Amino acid sequence: MNQTDPDSIDELSAALQQCGYYADRRLATAVFLALRLQRPLLLEGEPGVGKTELAKALAEVLARQLLRLQCYDGLELREALYEWNYSAQLLHMRAAEGHAQAEQIEREVYQERYLIHRPLLQALQAPAPGAVLLIDEVDRADEPFEAFLLEYLGEYQVSIPELGTVRAEVAPVTILTSNRTRELNDAVKRRCLYHWLDYPERERELAIVRAQVPQAPAELTRQVAEFVSRVRGASYAGSFQRMPGIAESVEWARALVALDTLNLDPEVVTDTAGILFKQREDVAALTRDLAAELLAPAPTE
Ligand SMILES: Nc1ncnc2c1ncn2[C@@H]1O[C@H](COP(=O)(O)OP(=O)(O)OP(=O)(O)O)[C@@H](O)[C@H]1O
Ligand SMILES: [Mg+2]
Repeated sequence: MNQTDPDSIDELSAALQQCGYYADRRLATAVFLALRLQRPLLLEGEPGVGKTELAKALAEVLARQLLRLQCYDGLELREALYEWNYSAQLLHMRAAEGHAQAEQIEREVYQERYLIHRPLLQALQAPAPGAVLLIDEVDRADEPFEAFLLEYLGEYQVSIPELGTVRAEVAPVTILTSNRTRELNDAVKRRCLYHWLDYPERERELAIVRAQVPQAPAELTRQVAEFVSRVRGASYAGSFQRMPGIAESVEWARALVALDTLNLDPEVVTDTAGILFKQREDVAALTRDLAAELLAPAPTE
């Protein structure tokens, strides 16, 4: 907890919104508690629902540096934590050759200045007020990496054999995200607060699209939010494989403005289906008839 951290959930929500991020009450509560309890927050959810964006907005709200670690299969600690700068060490050794004893040279090359700091180490060493650490798409990393995270998240410290233990002066505000391509280790989950980030309700999506595409006519923005919300509704659950995320709604509104669209109709919807859906089958499923049904005035769900 930092002096400038928000004092209440409402204050946090308002501050996030000022940075362009619209959180609902449950998400704002989870973030507030993560700050108060100094616990990592694990955000799971479908693609494009604002997991990564939350960490960015939070860093802005807290005026902390954002450090981001993008996970992938095969991610190694030398990319995540630190590695020795071999070429600089080699140069040092060459220069010292003949002037110093072997043990002395060895001591000299294992100094902090020959260490390349990667995001997880940077996060421990960030000066006050500390950093926001985003460990993005942790489900893509492999299990040994998750095992390493256990200690990191539990203690906020790491040991570097040649240098000793590095402990965080200020615990980084840590956000982990997962698209749930695989189930995470229970032990990692237990160290985190957990929040499932769902698609937004229509009103919140409307606010996001309004804020991000202010040039769109108000009526068009309303239609976009309504349409996307119906597509995601229970009645069409079997029609599409992948629902559009918030990113797609925003992009769609931008595209419609570029086409000078004032009102949605089945033709413009099917012509621009590749912005809402990124799967060939889903684009094909959005026929003109289905588009007309989704656009019909009376709610169909
Ligand atoms: N709550 C929100 N308020 C404002 N904008 C949002 C919100 N959620 C999502 N967005 C918008 O949607 C875009 C996509 O969000 P983001 O990249 O955070 O999704 P994600 O959940 O990390 O997706 P992925 O799983 O594909 O990485 C953001 O760039 C932002 O413009
Ligand atoms: Mg993301």
